[in-house]
Amino acid sequence: MDGPFREPPQPVPSLAACYFYHTLELPGHGIVEGEWDLRPNLDAYLGGVEFQGQRVLEVGTASGGVAFHLERQGAEVIAFDLSPERCTDIVPFHGDDLAARTERTRKHLERIRNGFWLAHAALESRVRRAEGTVYEIPEALGPVDATTFGSVLLHLRDPFLALTSAARLTRRTLIVTELLQLRTWQRWLLKLSGTHGPVWLPDAQSGEPKHSWWYLPPELVRRWLNILGFTRARTTAHTQLFRGSPNQLYTIVAERK
Ligand SMILES: C[S@@+](CC[C@H](N)C(=O)[O-])C[C@H]1O[C@@H](n2cnc3c(N)ncnc32)[C@H](O)[C@@H]1O
Repeated sequence: MDGPFREPPQPVPSLAACYFYHTLELPGHGIVEGEWDLRPNLDAYLGGVEFQGQRVLEVGTASGGVAFHLERQGAEVIAFDLSPERCTDIVPFHGDDLAARTERTRKHLERIRNGFWLAHAALESRVRRAEGTVYEIPEALGPVDATTFGSVLLHLRDPFLALTSAARLTRRTLIVTELLQLRTWQRWLLKLSGTHGPVWLPDAQSGEPKHSWWYLPPELVRRWLNILGFTRARTTAHTQLFRGSPNQLYTIVAERK
């Protein structure tokens, strides 16, 4: 083991041991279906940034769909995700069996990690994978020219801490992509609060969602990025496919002066 970096496993995991978050086209396997098919609109997902020759940290890589795309654009890529002994932030609903849920989530994450390595081998990728937690991104991964947070912040109990952790290693550009679509009641809450504040998603009555915490309006994320020194920001909206249905997302590209 080389600090936070991980070597590809030998042998490569079998297809049966994998779960794909991203739909990927892989030599020797054809198209493997995932939850999100970002392929038609990946440049918009990343805010139309030019990555050629840049060193890029992709936070929360899942099956690696974004990391492998960045590599194709000519970037040197570090794909970062949770290490096996860690788990995502699970909403601790009273009465839920949290130990069982943590165990199930860890197993699911392991299948996604397998999918990353299978794709990595099939694509003969040079992307380097590193593991830990986004709250304490290891110093050894930096400095990088750009860091991407694709659909990660909504799953974190403390999204500002995560951005702070990445900002200290990022020389120039921080890219945040999040869901833009809100359900009616969430829109209503936002209007009621009359602020650009976050919307808290977990609801005690329904016991859902268990793995998402926030709707983060773009105005709020821009303010956070400003605080961290990324003062020149532009926001764009785009559509991506989730299980075949279009979903609206936004991307903020924020630069240091
Ligand atoms: C919804 S996926 C996003 C995949 C990819 N970034 C994209 O844009 O398509 C969220 C990823 O964040 C990772 N993640 C969640 N909590 C994390 C943490 N505390 N530290 C590092 N990664 C985390 C999950 O394991 C998962 O791979």
